[in-house]
Amino acid sequence: MILKACLFDLDGVIVDTAQYHYLAWKNLADKLGFVFTETDNEQLKGVSRMESLRILLEIGNVSLSEQEKIQVAEEKNQLYLQYVLRMTRGDVLPGVLEFLRELKNNKILLGIGSASKNARTILEGIELVSAFDVIVDGNLITHAKPHPEVFALGAQLLHTDASCCIVFEDAIAGIQAAHNAGMKCIGVGSPEILREADLVIPGFKNLKLADIKL
Ligand code: BG6
Ligand code: MG
Repeated sequence: MILKACLFDLDGVIVDTAQYHYLAWKNLADKLGFVFTETDNEQLKGVSRMESLRILLEIGNVSLSEQEKIQVAEEKNQLYLQYVLRMTRGDVLPGVLEFLRELKNNKILLGIGSASKNARTILEGIELVSAFDVIVDGNLITHAKPHPEVFALGAQLLHTDASCCIVFEDAIAGIQAAHNAGMKCIGVGSPEILREADLVIPGFKNLKLADIKL
């Protein structure tokens, strides 16, 4: 393939915010009186806030009114923000900055494709807003991953064909979204969980562009 653009998921790829999402959802599950494990949390990765809540409530077999759902989702977000607002450049995952620099030196366009409505806040904290040519976040899209919208819009805004884009994702729903958009996808994390990816890497440490053969 001719690589022209790389689209990065944010949570769990550029920064380890997945742990903060987990802690904030677990806090809600504790209050509602059920156990919510890290394995359960895999199902929430990459999906929108309200869809995450729907899955969480299903796990706990709890039903809430629409009003209550909006309220608990807001409470979860406030707790999540308490963690996220403390993040700095030092929280960027190992090897990410070096890899982004190599891509930029090779004139490859860079984009963020995140389901999060907090993506910009996080990118500001870690000082990476200007590193990306485009930022597509949860405020710009109407369909959650595995729908291809987030990545399709990223490619469109970069004026690049899907066949020339590679997506980096830590979530199953995100890998499916990339494939649904007609893009190759590199899973970041465990090969057992990210089986559907075209290639799985443990992280960006020591990763070179030449290592990516798709
Ligand atoms: C994704 C995370 O990036 O964003 C999900 O993987 C999260 O876990 C989703 O639910 C929405 O995030 P936010 O910040 O808008 O609540
Ligand atoms: Mg993610």
